[in-house]
Order: sequence, then C-alpha cells, then structure tokens
Amino acid sequence: MNEARVRRAGLDDVDGAVVLFNELDRLESDWRVFAPRPDVLSEIRRRYERLAAATDGILVVAESDGRLIGLGVGEVSKPSSWSDERALYVSNVYVDPAYRRLGIGHSIVAELVAFAAERAMERLVLRVFAPNRDAIAFWTDLGFEPRLTQFTVRIDQLREKIRSRASEEAP
Ligand SMILES: CC(C)(COP(=O)(O)OP(=O)(O)OC[C@H]1O[C@@H](n2cnc3c(N)ncnc32)[C@H](O)[C@@H]1OP(=O)(O)O)[C@@H](O)C(=O)NCCC(=O)NCCS
Repeated sequence: MNEARVRRAGLDDVDGAVVLFNELDRLESDWRVFAPRPDVLSEIRRRYERLAAATDGILVVAESDGRLIGLGVGEVSKPSSWSDERALYVSNVYVDPAYRRLGIGHSIVAELVAFAAERAMERLVLRVFAPNRDAIAFWTDLGFEPRLTQFTVRIDQLREKIRSRASEEAP
C-alpha cells in the first residue's frame, strides 16, 4: 500500500468521489430518519462538480494506488442565524476502511483547515450522527466539542406518550 496523497479535487475526480459518497451514505443510512430525495445522488454529483472549481468551498480527495480512497467537503457558511461570522462547514469526510487509522482523515482535515485559514475563518463546524462512535472519537481527538444537540421524535409516538401521560394523570 503506497502512501496516500491528499489534495484539492478537480473535475476528473468527481466520479471517484461519488463512489466514496455512496459508501458513506450506506454507512449512515440506518441513522437517517428523513427519507432522502430520489435524485440525491445527482445533486451530490452537481455539488462536487461545482466544488471542484469553487472559491467558496472545496472538495478534498485522498489518492493511493491509483484510486481515490478518501474524501472531504468544506463550504463557507454562517452557522449562527444571530451572527455574520463565517465558518467552514465540513461534511462528507470518509476514508476507505482498508486505509483507516493511518492519518489520512487528519490529512483531509488539514487541507480543509488550510482552505479556511486562507479565507480568514476561525472555526470549522460539522454535524455527526449521535451513534457514529468512530467519527465522534476522530473529531474529539482533533479537539472538536459538541455545541448543539438535535432532538427528534415521531409524532405518532409522541401522541401516544402524551395520551398515556394524560390518562395516568386523569382522576
Ligand atoms: C472518521 C474517519 C474519517 C477517520 O479517518 P482515519 O483516516 O481513520 O483517521 P486518522 O487515521 O486520521 O485518525 C486520527 C485519530 O483519530 C482517532 N480515531 C480515528 N478513528 C477512530 C476510531 N475508529 N476509534 C477511536 N479513535 C479513532 C484516533 O485518535 C486516531 O489516532 P490513532 O490512530 O493514532 O489512535 C473514518 O473512520 C471514516 O471514514 N469513518 C466512516 C465515515 C464517517 O463516519 N465519517 C464522518 C462523518 S461525520
């Protein structure tokens, strides 16, 4: 296994990047509660094509043995609706399982950090599914800390809960 090269992606990398996105999507599918749009894959392809030449975002890839084995996206965002401060919104970070724990994830993040720093941003932000322990260990190791937690519940379950509480409390 040759050492991985981590770099900004070009248009020629989009096919390989979409393959890696598919793997990430499969991994995360059990954690999704909102049904994805049917054409989400073509959206991803268009997004990656745009990022390959964007000034407000970057698609990073890791390459080894002649193929793409890692991925990461950074997009300029304003994470707080109360603030105009910009931060790099990081998503789609993925490393092929055969290449994990070799520092490639760190190198992808380093490329995203360089992009953010060149544009005078002071923070990276991202979202992670709560059951994704590997990712949480990875981000925590880098110093990321949870700031907000999204809660969700199905309305039928919630109704049942409220109904049973009400009947318990009825005299
Ligand atoms: C998360 C992920 C990108 C990490 O990539 P990686 O190339 O293996 O990460 P690195 O080798 O740079 O790891 C650096 C450090 O992070 C921590 N870390 C990474 N993966 C870890 C794991 N599974 N368990 C515990 N710690 C972990 C360790 O401290 C590690 O250093 P060490 O190997 O010297 O102990 C990779 O596991 C992955 O692709 N996971 C599936 C996709 C995913 O969940 N993406 C994130 C979505 S938010």
